[in-house]
Amino acid sequence: MSVLLEVKDLTAGYGGPAVIEGISFDVFTNEIAVILGPNGAGKSTVIKTIFSLTNVLGGSVQLDGKTITDQKTSKLVTMGVSAVPQSHNVFPNLTVDENLDIGTYAAPPVDKMATREIILGLFPDLRDKLKQPSGELSGGQRQMVAIGRALMCEPTLLLLDEPTAGLSPAYLERIFDLLLDVRKTGVTILMVEQNARQALQIADHGHVFVNGKNFISGTGQELLADENVRNSFLGGAAS
Ligand SMILES: Nc1ncnc2c1ncn2[C@@H]1O[C@H](COP(=O)(O)OP(=O)(O)OP(=O)(O)O)[C@@H](O)[C@H]1O
Ligand SMILES: [Mg+2]
Repeated sequence: MSVLLEVKDLTAGYGGPAVIEGISFDVFTNEIAVILGPNGAGKSTVIKTIFSLTNVLGGSVQLDGKTITDQKTSKLVTMGVSAVPQSHNVFPNLTVDENLDIGTYAAPPVDKMATREIILGLFPDLRDKLKQPSGELSGGQRQMVAIGRALMCEPTLLLLDEPTAGLSPAYLERIFDLLLDVRKTGVTILMVEQNARQALQIADHGHVFVNGKNFISGTGQELLADENVRNSFLGGAAS
């Protein structure tokens, strides 16, 4: 297993005091890694920091052995990193097709139509909605547009911030199944999730953060079995 992303002793904030402090974890090539933790723990800040959207106060992030902590977000996209933010992740007035097209601007794929076909193969629900404004889609379909847009630049690392927020349990399962399909295309996924139990079931590794710091990391199965994690984040009982 090779390390694709190495986060080391990362401290960052938004201009004031540090929001995350000394965070360290590795993401392995072609795995699904999940970030868990309570509201306000700094999960989104970790994702935003990897994507160069915060002020880094210390530590480093390496992608494939290259330090990226000092790179601009637009450069990261050309290096194979793509992200879906927690909210406002589609342009509601633009059609599905236009949203997908925007995903190609920062790092155009070799063959845009071929990439679009692969993405519509992954998300067939979008095929009959291509000319519809994305704001008219259901929440789950909008998430597919957002993830599809992020895949249009053919990333090696996909950062997702709560891809199943607000979705019904059935739709949540569909999105997770789709993410397993995305992983099969060679993409490494690092995602924040509130649906901890289901996320750990599909995750290779999980990283729990509390108050901006590492709390516990382990394989999905290890965290599902951990009493501390069960009591604090999984509602107690073993599944
Ligand atoms: N743009 C910002 N400017 C200043 N402080 C921010 C900003 N975004 C987040 N914070 C602060 O950073 C802390 C961590 O926020 P963050 O969004 O990373 O948490 P989170 O774990 O993603 O929470 P949630 O589960 O609610 O999404 C919070 O105290 C928040 O107020
Ligand atoms: Mg968040």
